[in-house]
Amino acid sequence: MMNYTSGNGNIKNWVLSEEQFHPDQLGKCESIMYLGNGYLGLRSATEEPYLQEKRNLFVNGTFNQGEENEVTELPNLADMTRFDMKIDGERFSLEFGKTKEYVRQLNLKTAELTRKIQWISPKGKEIWFQFRRFVSLHNLHLIGMKLEVESVSHPIQLTIESGINGQMTNSGSQHFLEGERRVHQKCALEMIQTTKESKINIILNAVHTLRINGEEIRNDPEMNMSRRKVWLTYNVALQPSDQFVFEKLATVYTSVDKEFSRYDKGMYDVEYQLDDSIKYIRKQASKELQELHNKGYEMLFNQHAEKWETIWNIYKLEVDSTESFDQLALRFSLYHLIAMTPAHDEKMGIGAKALSGEGYRGHSFWDTEIFILPFFTYSNQAIAKSLLTYRYLGLESAKRKAKANGYEGAMYPWEAAKPSDGEVTPEWGDIDIVTGKPTKIWPGLIEQHITADIAFAIYQYTKVTGDKDFLIAYGYEIIFETATFWASRLEWSSENGQYYINDVIGPDEYKEHVNNNAYTNYMAYFNLKLAIRFVDQLKQDDKKRFLQMDKKLDLNNHYLNWLEKAEKLYLPEPRAKDHVIPQDDTYLSLKELDLSKYKNQDSVRGIYKDYNPEQINHFQVTKQADTLLIFYLLEQTFLADDERLSQQVKSANFHFYEPRTLHDSSLSLSTHVILACDLGKVDLAYEMFTKLCETDLGPSMDTSNEGIHAASIGGMWTAAVFGFGGVRLYQEELRINPQLPTQWKQLKFVFHWRGHPLHITITKSTLRVEASTMENIRFRVFEKAFTFRESIEIPLEKGSLLSY
Ligand code: BGC
Ligand code: BGC
Repeated sequence: MMNYTSGNGNIKNWVLSEEQFHPDQLGKCESIMYLGNGYLGLRSATEEPYLQEKRNLFVNGTFNQGEENEVTELPNLADMTRFDMKIDGERFSLEFGKTKEYVRQLNLKTAELTRKIQWISPKGKEIWFQFRRFVSLHNLHLIGMKLEVESVSHPIQLTIESGINGQMTNSGSQHFLEGERRVHQKCALEMIQTTKESKINIILNAVHTLRINGEEIRNDPEMNMSRRKVWLTYNVALQPSDQFVFEKLATVYTSVDKEFSRYDKGMYDVEYQLDDSIKYIRKQASKELQELHNKGYEMLFNQHAEKWETIWNIYKLEVDSTESFDQLALRFSLYHLIAMTPAHDEKMGIGAKALSGEGYRGHSFWDTEIFILPFFTYSNQAIAKSLLTYRYLGLESAKRKAKANGYEGAMYPWEAAKPSDGEVTPEWGDIDIVTGKPTKIWPGLIEQHITADIAFAIYQYTKVTGDKDFLIAYGYEIIFETATFWASRLEWSSENGQYYINDVIGPDEYKEHVNNNAYTNYMAYFNLKLAIRFVDQLKQDDKKRFLQMDKKLDLNNHYLNWLEKAEKLYLPEPRAKDHVIPQDDTYLSLKELDLSKYKNQDSVRGIYKDYNPEQINHFQVTKQADTLLIFYLLEQTFLADDERLSQQVKSANFHFYEPRTLHDSSLSLSTHVILACDLGKVDLAYEMFTKLCETDLGPSMDTSNEGIHAASIGGMWTAAVFGFGGVRLYQEELRINPQLPTQWKQLKFVFHWRGHPLHITITKSTLRVEASTMENIRFRVFEKAFTFRESIEIPLEKGSLLSY
């Protein structure tokens, strides 16, 4: 059972609490309370083991293909969090004895996970435990753990087994060769793991400190080693009210860490032996462990908490709401956006489940570019650039995918791992309830909009940040290569004298093998048009670079091809009678289905219990925002004036598609919130916003089992800032059309526009914008243009918004 109101005073709306433990409901807190710093991700499994637990430790970017017939995934590293404890021989487990008090909390402010338990063993010994844990934001390699134990009733003999356990798998798939294990000086442990296929070395170290009543004790442990495992067993005698402290500091390094890898020129000469690098890293790691040991948990935790304090000062998103959950949810979103993002290395992307579980195998999807990246584009240019550079590093493999499929240019993988891996979507998925066989996974072959989504993200990034250097170094090339892909992908229909895009899956994955998915066609059109504009721009801005690129990419010829193809690409028109844009060629002629049963369900994908994918293909039911995304995204571009995207058409499509959309993907609701705001339906938007926040935070205890929903977490930020805050890149300019829901008195946030942080305060009656620059800032509020320096306060009139 979750409680989000347990934080008081200066931690009000900062704390997620679980107040009752249930051994069959472990997944939720393991995921939503997971700890991470973009490098490491540690799922929050409890120290003592339970049957249903999922213990995961990931290092971003360490992909490995477990078996020949499996796709590459983020391997689950050796576990260092498990403590097996016995009290006078009785195993400590909340499944036995009596739990008098229990609370597990994640404090978002300090990113510390704690558990307080008062437990009575089956033989009646009453013990108080406090567990604490953090994954350092100050030192990306560090995990800190601390256990405090006090016997309330009897003298006890406490046994703790703690070590490094490499017997972990990814749902059965073993990714590592058995490596070296060591115990140093009877208190420190070391293990090397090497991934079987990608040959990445992982260096794990851990050290223990024991204290009774503040005094460090040298308690010689039993030293143990078995297959893939090394651990120490401590025995301690405790009198009632003795305060026992057990600290474990653990570090993780890998041979692909940027600071050690060839990729980073500083550390090594280009040629070095892998073995040397392990030796070097091992030496560094053990030296560091000693230093960390000297500092201890509290000092290291404080350094970590200070780092988080700076984070909270930089990324502000504050809401004064009658529902305190709203503020907590927005902090939850910021917390996870930081915890999931590999700000330290551009060779890495963000997994669809972040670093919180094995779901989607750590792969990156369009989730990043469309739902997560906007936060960084508007908040931290360097991180946004790093995430886009990851796609640049994947350009060669995207070209390979295009070629393998008979196309030109760059065709981005639906699922991506290491930049050089190319397409990594698995081939077989869930059970088909009709045939009893696994269903074929088609997106890797035919869900192609990702290529244009990346182009859109680059466009948005450059317009919002004004970073032209990125375009010169990477961006232009991606846009040109992706446009070339689309040009080669189009199919000529001699019947209509137009180009089609046949046999695809759009964002609505409930429709497989459709022709002319409107979203895909419009986005491909945008991609082609963008390439044309960028060639014009490059010719004008940097003739030399243009000539270089022309030589490499044959731009002049492609340019003519893009022009011809873009003009003749079929873009599904709004229907004359009601302005509805057909989602694809057949959607509007499919049978309608009463969806009320599925729309009101607590968990998603209920429709799969009644129909198989083939049957769902034949209903007017949409998994997630699809056609509606066209309005939200393309309105931000030079296509905003296109009549097909008018407010009237947008409104008509919202009314048509919202009732047919099940929001069965966590990527869906944020777009509907934003559009509902655009259309003045603020109450509906707020209702959907709450549902969006409940994707991971809701009462259901099993929907986050596979990991958190990274895109919905990004979507919470966009829903607040783009939806209620009304901030948008609109017709290439900044627009702020705020509309607070009834429940919100004030919304405050900061975002960056062309390099300048803008501090926004919105109330029901005013919009205040502050900038610390002497430059003029221009923006529009409900069609009116404003220019200011330093600060401006604009009264918001009732009805300033046109409603449809
Ligand atoms: C959604 C996709 C998404 C993927 C990963 C699927 O369920 O339909 O749009 O990219 O999950 O989050
Ligand atoms: C998603 C696809 C994904 C597949 C395999 C499905 O649940 O909807 O987008 O490619 O899983 O990861």
